[in-house]
Amino acid sequence: MQQTGSHRVLKSASIFVFAAFCLSPISYADEKKAERSGEDIYKQYCSSCHVAGGNTAKPKKPLAGSSVLKSIATFQKYLESPPGHMPYYKSVVEDKSVIKKLYEYCRKLPKTAGA
Ligand code: HEC
Repeated sequence: MQQTGSHRVLKSASIFVFAAFCLSPISYADEKKAERSGEDIYKQYCSSCHVAGGNTAKPKKPLAGSSVLKSIATFQKYLESPPGHMPYYKSVVEDKSVIKKLYEYCRKLPKTAGA
């Protein structure tokens, strides 16, 4: 039959389209990496000391329920010039969208037992 050849071409073409379709979400996910959630940011920068919203470096100053979280402005101000052993994170402070996401995540953390 004459048809078989073109059928085969069609078949491999559709396999190619299918493969391209399957691979595309991977590159899409890579691009999305820049858009991290507040939780991701917290885990990267904050959770080492503020485990579960607490404060392992200074237990009397837990993050969760802190007055610093009163507004995004007080939060930003605090991160711009943190006291004591609380570190300064340039990449956090310089990006409003990062601060906003981080702020919203921190607000949701339940007050720790010690607070
Ligand atoms: C190396 C440990 C460490 C890391 C990492 C850290 N902190 Fe802190 N944080 C502290 C210490 C210590 C204090 C208490 C500072 C003081 O008043 O002496 C503190 C205090 C705070 C407070 C104020 C609590 C209060 O009521 O006084 C907030 C809010 C806070 N941190 C947010 C964050 C955020 C957001 C991050 C991540 C971007 C972060 N911290 C990362 C150690 C850390």
